Amino acid sequence: MPVEIAVIEGDGIGKEVVPAAVEVLDAVAATGSIGEFEYTYVDAGDAVLAETGEALPEDTYEAAANADATLFGAAGETAADVILPLRDAVGSFVNIRPARAFPGVDAVRSETDVVFLRENTEGVYAGHEDRLSEDLSTLTRVVTSSASRELAEFACDFVEDGRGPDGSEGFTVAHKANVMRETDGRFRDEVLAVAAERGVEADEELMDAFATKLPLDPTQYGVVVCGNLAGDVLSDLAAGLVGGLGLLPSANIGHDNGLFEPVHGTAPDIAGEGVANPTAAILSAAMLVEYFGYVEDGNRIRDAVEAVLTDGPRTGDLGGSATTTEVTEAVVERL
Ligand code: NAI
Ligand code: MG
Repeated sequence: MPVEIAVIEGDGIGKEVVPAAVEVLDAVAATGSIGEFEYTYVDAGDAVLAETGEALPEDTYEAAANADATLFGAAGETAADVILPLRDAVGSFVNIRPARAFPGVDAVRSETDVVFLRENTEGVYAGHEDRLSEDLSTLTRVVTSSASRELAEFACDFVEDGRGPDGSEGFTVAHKANVMRETDGRFRDEVLAVAAERGVEADEELMDAFATKLPLDPTQYGVVVCGNLAGDVLSDLAAGLVGGLGLLPSANIGHDNGLFEPVHGTAPDIAGEGVANPTAAILSAAMLVEYFGYVEDGNRIRDAVEAVLTDGPRTGDLGGSATTTEVTEAVVERL
């Protein structure tokens, strides 16, 4: 049975970096143990909204929901209208965001190697916002024991399977339970309880202190478990430390489905020129391959990317003048 992938290029450089990732997937399938990929192309984003009146048409949602996994580029101004429902379509409960500095790439902190495991369904992003009066708006923060424990179980598996940065035997949970005693208190308590039940080392850090300590010394951290908002912000902070959006992949994992996407957006300033860095999209494809259990093949992609970043062609964001196609070809050659 071929692995069925829904492909959503979206807007801007999504149309340039997603084909690069597909090319790498095909090259891996041709030379690795995975077998074949079968692609269903659907679309979403600003252009689709202008054309159809909907940023995320029903057939796109259905294609993502029914596929084994989805590869997504980026959407422009409609990003929130596209990504949040897509995460729902694949039933994603955790967002994996690695931030690792690559050899040969300028980084604020070249020793950074952290993976964020972010709760992906609740917290302040659960969508309960209200305008109560001219003067007052409120937001309801949702934290359940079940989602907190599910995330913690995933984090324990992740660490036990050796998927954390080198030598990670445990994780850090970042929270603000000293102020949000009920919601983050529940989150912190449940995550630490699961770690204790599983015999996995876990420590905790207040998220504001974490935001200071990470840039000062990223080597203190490996796997970091966070709520939805904290994971969003802190992983972007880590992205800044490793030198650029063009490098960072992410995975939204569900029970029998996943959505894989670069962290960056549509990059309107360079879109259409064929010079976008395909690395983030290609590394998202590596996470997709890994999700299906082909860890070796995922590592092959990562090694090829690393080799190209070390002494191969580079796009403009990394100080080079290569095109998206040239970088992609170089990665494929090294597979
Ligand atoms: P952005 O990530 O699109 O661009 C920020 C800067 O990084 C730009 O200078 C861009 O040229 C550069 N950049 C990003 N990815 C790159 C790559 N692969 N290669 C080379 N340079 C790259 O973020 P921005 O400018 O804040 O947002 C632009 C649009 O993208 C907005 O409409 C926003 O809503 C959308 N967006 C969508 C996301 C998604 O669909 N997941 C995520 C973030 C933004
Ligand atoms: Mg973000």
